[in-house]
Amino acid sequence: MAPPARAGAAAATQGTVEDARALAANAASLEALRATLGAYNGCSLKFSAKSLVFGDGNPNADVMFIGEAPGRDEDLQGVPFVGRAGQLLDKMMAAIHLDRSSSYITNILPWRPPGNRKPSLDEQALMQPFIHRHIELVNPKVLVFLGGTSAQQLLNSKDGIMRLRGRWRSYAIGGQDRPHREIPAMSTLHPAFLLRTPAQKRAAWQDLLEVAAKLKEFQS
Ligand code: URA
Repeated sequence: MAPPARAGAAAATQGTVEDARALAANAASLEALRATLGAYNGCSLKFSAKSLVFGDGNPNADVMFIGEAPGRDEDLQGVPFVGRAGQLLDKMMAAIHLDRSSSYITNILPWRPPGNRKPSLDEQALMQPFIHRHIELVNPKVLVFLGGTSAQQLLNSKDGIMRLRGRWRSYAIGGQDRPHREIPAMSTLHPAFLLRTPAQKRAAWQDLLEVAAKLKEFQS
């Protein structure tokens, strides 16, 4: 006979998207959102991760970079993009005169998936309300999605990153009782991919030039 299904165990750590949406929408500040995530037990990734990796940089920055999920170094330090990919991201930002005092950086998921596996679609959907609220609270002028997982999730697209990158799209925030705004969003190649595939750095450079030009439009 098959062993009984462990439905209870799964249910204990699997919240619903509706709950996540209500919790995230209630967070009135980034500090409140961080505290909400710290107390949230609905996503099982929390229990295998060492840290909540919330965000880094300047929350008043014009530009917000969003990656996939923390890796080992980020999990150990509790800060996004501090490993090898993060060092390349710092260089990519520096190439358009940005650094962590003039940018804000986070991920679509705040906990490291075990063994750095790609987050499942269920995990991404469950945590989507939190990254959405995170974007609303930072309210940047420009968004940059790093890699296919972030771009597909936030643009609600099944297209691969090679199709999504290099073109401006918009990400809508607000609605209901909050002001609606469309934020220009550029998807580009993930720095971890660029470490493995340096020939694609040219393409990422084109995308970064677009970001720099867009930021300049907002400054003039
Ligand atoms: N890769 C990501 O997508 N995010 C990090 O924070 C680190 C590596």
